[in-house]
Amino acid sequence: MKLIIFGATGPTGQFVVKQALGKGHHVKALVRNPDSLTSSNARLSVSKVNIFRSEELHPHLNGSDAIISCLGTRKLSLFDRSKITFYTDSLQSILDSMRMSGTKRLVCLSSWGTKRPPVLEKTMRLFPVGRLLDNMLEMEVYLEDHCCDIDYTVIKPAGLLDKAPSGLPILTSHQERVQGCKMVLSRGDVARFVLQCVEQGTWVKSRVSIGVKTWT
Ligand SMILES: NC(=O)c1ccc[n+]([C@@H]2O[C@H](COP(=O)([O-])OP(=O)(O)OC[C@H]3O[C@@H](n4cnc5c(N)ncnc54)[C@H](OP(=O)(O)O)[C@@H]3O)[C@@H](O)[C@H]2O)c1
Repeated sequence: MKLIIFGATGPTGQFVVKQALGKGHHVKALVRNPDSLTSSNARLSVSKVNIFRSEELHPHLNGSDAIISCLGTRKLSLFDRSKITFYTDSLQSILDSMRMSGTKRLVCLSSWGTKRPPVLEKTMRLFPVGRLLDNMLEMEVYLEDHCCDIDYTVIKPAGLLDKAPSGLPILTSHQERVQGCKMVLSRGDVARFVLQCVEQGTWVKSRVSIGVKTWT
């Protein structure tokens, strides 16, 4: 398959790129820092883009089978109380560019627990992580409410560990977490599930929480 990967230089994105190449896919990484990408392969091309400019993105998307977004925003200051819009802003330009290029399939990452009980919602909003989860939820709701033309899948992992795929079965749920699963899973497992969704066309027009039962 011909895959476009956003966030390919991030810790999960790097796993997705490596696994996709290992499975014989063609990968185009659209990144802001090409030097941060550790993979190299004849089937990998890397382009520097501004992810918020759809006019810049859409020529790269022509002819691709699926878009994978592993974008995230790591650097959050405890003292910055402003609303986080990173997920919805980057989603909007990706969607615009998908529509311009006629690409339908999108797999992106969110997190367990974006929808929280009201009491937790208010308290957590005082901290960057709460506002991060709020914006992820806005992204999920936007896809559901305004993107019936897009075959999206929102993958909601537990806490992420920088580890290789465990080989354990990945359990899924439509709830905000997967009952009986660990609070963490490896980025390698997330990458495995991302590619499974893309290759098998599963979980289309859905958000799905994922986790693993035991850790080895
Ligand atoms: N950490 C956790 O425990 C956890 C749990 C559940 C879900 N998640 C979510 O899972 C996803 C992947 O997480 P992760 O820790 O692997 O990655 P991450 O550190 O959140 O994402 C970083 C990626 O996004 C890119 N990025 C950020 N701002 C950008 C911008 N303005 N323009 C272009 N690229 C930009 C980074 O590029 P550069 O390399 O250039 O900075 C990098 O490739 C994220 O959405 C995260 O919120 C994380």
